[in-house]
Amino acid sequence: MSPLAAPPMALYLHFPWCVRKCPYCDFNSHTLHGQLPQQQYLDALVADMALQAPLARGRQISSIFMGGGTPSLFAPEAIGRLLEALGKLVPFQPKAEITLEANPGTIERGRFAGYRAAGITRVSLGAQSFAPAQLERLGRIHSSDDTRAAAAELHAAGLGNFNLDLMYALPDQDLAGALEDVRAALALEPAHLSHYQLTLEPGTVFGALPPAGLPDEDLAAQMQEHCQAEIAAGGYRQYEVSAYARTGAECAHNLNYWNFGDYCGVGAGAHGKLSDVGPGTIGRTQREREPRRYLASGAQAPLALREIADADLPFEFMMNALRLVEGFEEDLFETRTGLAWSELSAPLVRLGERGLLESIPGNRSGWRPTELGQRFLNDAIAEFLPTRPGV
Ligand SMILES: C[S@@+](CC[C@H](N)C(=O)[O-])C[C@H]1O[C@@H](n2cnc3c(N)ncnc32)[C@H](O)[C@@H]1O
Ligand code: SF4
Repeated sequence: MSPLAAPPMALYLHFPWCVRKCPYCDFNSHTLHGQLPQQQYLDALVADMALQAPLARGRQISSIFMGGGTPSLFAPEAIGRLLEALGKLVPFQPKAEITLEANPGTIERGRFAGYRAAGITRVSLGAQSFAPAQLERLGRIHSSDDTRAAAAELHAAGLGNFNLDLMYALPDQDLAGALEDVRAALALEPAHLSHYQLTLEPGTVFGALPPAGLPDEDLAAQMQEHCQAEIAAGGYRQYEVSAYARTGAECAHNLNYWNFGDYCGVGAGAHGKLSDVGPGTIGRTQREREPRRYLASGAQAPLALREIADADLPFEFMMNALRLVEGFEEDLFETRTGLAWSELSAPLVRLGERGLLESIPGNRSGWRPTELGQRFLNDAIAEFLPTRPGV
């Protein structure tokens, strides 16, 4: 195969510790016992980056996302030192978006000003809900007043470009409760809102022991519809299944995932995706998940690459691109996968007939999910699964 045009290159940095593990969460996050090994972990991240830097192949980093876990357990000065060290290994684009995930329970006065001085340009704050009883059941370590105080601090620190994470379809929540949460979030004037339906993940406390009073599917769909309208009325445009933004405040880092761009994954359990790991071949990487093992040797272990077979590429591309309300264009599919557009003809016709996808009006080469397709997104994506002999 011929080499792929190099897509933008982003960087994901994982921070695996939290004050307390939330019962619904299946991210690679671990309750911190004892002292945070702050400097040791920063050193490991830098060593990991040094190993992965050649994968950037000269590209400047277009965005950085510090996710968790709870990156805001790390002091602003530590984050500043980290960014400085990473910048020496891989150059960042001059206006690169640099996001830090923060838990409102870890934010004391002045902390956001410190993060901004360290180079952070965007913050994602885990609000989840504003109802005290919900925060309690979700095992959160903060109150709704902590979230309000954190949002005020963000504005005061000049970090108005922040996201709030909210969840809905919570135990014993009714439609009015879900709408109240949205209104309380919008009152804090975030630039961006992520609105997730609570899912019961295997391997979590909620997965093993589902909480009583969970809304049924119909009520959850009603909540989504009404909350969507409320968020739109507040001046936020939905651009992805769960993401809403004021004009120009879409998350550049997540857009790169959804547009099937490249990224290095640095830190415990971090995933990466890279084009041209061999000629015309796309590969994925994953780091050691367990924080102590990552610290002991995982950060410096040779990078294992898993190649994505050509037959799997349409599905892998669509799992990302179809999340976008605006869908994708022919050209993006071809340049990001190296496959011909004709590979998609049969599933696109079938999905058009089922009313799940439509070609974008006035743009003959673009496709997007219909409203029905947005509701049954997994069905739409499944059309692109490879057909394997004997299966
Ligand atoms: C990686 S977490 C990090 C946020 C940060 N540690 C915090 O909780 O404050 C990102 C977001 O995913 C969402 N999330 C996590 N588990 C979820 C689940 N089971 N169902 C729906 N959303 C979930 C939450 O809204 C959470 O804020
Ligand atoms: S939701 Fe956030 S704070 Fe809670 S365990 Fe997951 S990563 Fe940690």
